[in-house]
Amino acid sequence: MTFDLGILTISDRASTGEYVDKSGPLIRQIFSNRTKWRITHEHTIHDNLEEIAAQLMEWSNEQLSLILTTGGTGFAPRDVTPEATLQVIERSAPGIAEAMRYESLKITRHAMLSRAVAGIRGSTLIINLPGSPKAVKENLEIILPVLPHALELLVGTPGGEKGHRTI
Ligand code: MTE
Repeated sequence: MTFDLGILTISDRASTGEYVDKSGPLIRQIFSNRTKWRITHEHTIHDNLEEIAAQLMEWSNEQLSLILTTGGTGFAPRDVTPEATLQVIERSAPGIAEAMRYESLKITRHAMLSRAVAGIRGSTLIINLPGSPKAVKENLEIILPVLPHALELLVGTPGGEKGHRTI
């Protein structure tokens, strides 16, 4: 099974060109070395709730397997990625964000400042990652091993249940 991936960088500074986005390209690099994954969409947008929600709707309507957002999960007034995500998801997947915070807290206490959420819209899993390249790398290392199984279950792949393991 091949998984189509959309990478959405959410940053006012990156979308105006004031800052060169490093996190989107890092996600691309991490996934481009892996078979099974095909990066089909990549975009940078402003920290704007309506804009983010519209982009998430558009990509999930195209039935991407996974959308990874980076940025806008913190406490700054314009950090609205979780609110936009909550607006479009139909089913929440709290365990993914819980695992990211739980493991990240072992690395930095600042992990408690990420308000990232994850959830499902149609056949698309949407996961918020924090904005810094360091945080992106650390959080992806936590969730990556589980993603193929999650996405197989999501589309009801026969035998997907066989991926269940105790650890
Ligand atoms: N998680 C990990 N693993 N490593 C990090 O360096 N940074 C934290 C947190 N999660 C961090 C992390 C910080 S400093 C913040 S403010 C929040 O993610 C939110 O980041 P964002 O506003 O860029 O989305």
